[in-house]
Amino acid sequence: MSSKSVNSIESAVHALANDRLVAMPTETVYGLAARIDRPLAIEKVFKTKGRPSFDPLIVHVASLEQAKSLVSSWPTSADILAQKFWPGPLTLVVPKNSSVSDLISSGLETVGIRVPNHPLALELLTKCATPLAAPSANRFGRTSPTAIDHVRTEFPEAIASGEVFILDGGACDVGVESTVVRCEDDQVTVLRPGGVTKSELEAALRAANILTPVLFASENKKVASPGHTEHHYMPTKPLSVFWGSKAEIDAHKKQLSPQFQTISLNSDARLAARELYAALRSADQTEGKSSLILYRETQSHDELWQAIDDRLKRAASHRLGSPPSDQPHVI
Ligand code: TXA
Ligand code: MG
Repeated sequence: MSSKSVNSIESAVHALANDRLVAMPTETVYGLAARIDRPLAIEKVFKTKGRPSFDPLIVHVASLEQAKSLVSSWPTSADILAQKFWPGPLTLVVPKNSSVSDLISSGLETVGIRVPNHPLALELLTKCATPLAAPSANRFGRTSPTAIDHVRTEFPEAIASGEVFILDGGACDVGVESTVVRCEDDQVTVLRPGGVTKSELEAALRAANILTPVLFASENKKVASPGHTEHHYMPTKPLSVFWGSKAEIDAHKKQLSPQFQTISLNSDARLAARELYAALRSADQTEGKSSLILYRETQSHDELWQAIDDRLKRAASHRLGSPPSDQPHVI
């Protein structure tokens, strides 16, 4: 690690200890981090994002041991999944203890916890020695940031005033947010699809001889993710998303009028996830175009498409066709 980034980490640790926020790189998207033991800073996270207080924050930790210090119980399924997927794009929702304030959990009895897989985030968490609550570093409802320049356009004033300190960790590798999973003794529920797929969760539990079933939220009405609203991840210009075969897409493109800015998603799901938010942002900023159309070819059956399609459905103001993963069990 260069001396410049060491200095940056130390400045970030100092900022966090003084109730300021840090734009922290993770492998999924950038987070807007505050120490969980600084209520003033936690309030600033909600205020800076314009986030409603009913939407709980994910708490980021450096290790499994630190995660356990935040909970009142730790189901076996959580233990297996944490050991298999941490550090990585998986958030475990488990019963919290009093070290997690109601402000962070939005009054829920549970807390979402994850260990991010990014060297700067891990170094920051280790040097802070305190867990960091961090939502994605975008204004509420808008497209998530996958590069530091995206964060700069979200919060120019707070960054200029020093209220938000930025740590540049390069482009995010996964590109869509973590899978959020509620762990209970008798079942595991996927509240938000993300970088870890349902099949991967099932395989990890099976390999450890744990028979707990894995459900989608639509199959388990008693749990909910309050922030997972119908409209989210939205660019400022109206976005239409077109799901279809290559032939259908080509035919549609021929009829387009020039005011549309088009985006074609990569047909490889990993690359599509990595590029999605940057592509939306750059199309949104193209001058002279009033509307966006995103094309997503539906041939590939990689399960990661469920997370991408979930984001596309919420980002779209208009849908053309529907994703193949749009089955009754998908939230
Ligand atoms: O990849 C990620 O998860 C990124 C990076 C920064 O870690 N974070 C992120 O945070 O996407 P945010 O706040 O944009 O989304 C968190 C989601 C929301 O839908 C929220 O409602 C849900 O997780 N969530 C958090 N705590 C929860 C809880 N206790 N119960 C149910 N849902 C929870
Ligand atoms: Mg978000």
